[in-house]
Amino acid sequence: METYPGKKKTAVFISGRGSNLKSLIKYSKKKNSLIKIILVISNNPDAEGLKYASRSKIKIYGNKNKSNFENKSLKLLEKFNIDLICLAGFMKILSGNFIKKFSKPILNIHPSLLPKYKGLNTHERAIKNKDRFAGASIHKVTEKLDSGKVILQKKVKILKSDNVRSLEKKVLKIEHEIYPKAVDKFLTNL
Ligand code: GAR
Repeated sequence: METYPGKKKTAVFISGRGSNLKSLIKYSKKKNSLIKIILVISNNPDAEGLKYASRSKIKIYGNKNKSNFENKSLKLLEKFNIDLICLAGFMKILSGNFIKKFSKPILNIHPSLLPKYKGLNTHERAIKNKDRFAGASIHKVTEKLDSGKVILQKKVKILKSDNVRSLEKKVLKIEHEIYPKAVDKFLTNL
């Protein structure tokens, strides 16, 4: 088994486009990064991000079978001796059983200023409530949805002219900036 001194062997879980995956891959390639991405796992075998991971010569695994997704993923995580999972646009909720069995840290990126707007449609809810700010958070995953300790978050202003699409675009831009920073911060303080 290959070792990567100073780097945590990381698996990224995605469900679709994979733009946060791309930003993590870009970070992981930096000399001083603290992770090596070994594996990308998806509950959607057609996820665009899997193609990108493949082109980046990272092992991929896609499985939409709900009943064995977690067990098969756990086996792979063990096989590749994975130290850290980063959820990046992974839209399936991991069971308590999975989180216990993996037993190492799992991080998630969520498109809101947690603890506000756990779950779905975060931008729509922020606009509807006439919030002045939206944003993104990276947090530790626990058994309670979107509720683990926040590692890093950043906000953006919601303008009167913003709609869900424009806000999503603005927030996504900061997501790409803060996920690598949060990973660095989290691993530095381990
Ligand atoms: C991102 O905005 C991410 O924060 C969000 O899905 C999008 C995935 O985009 N995640 C969640 O809503 C998790 N509950 P990407 O596939 O381009 O990274």
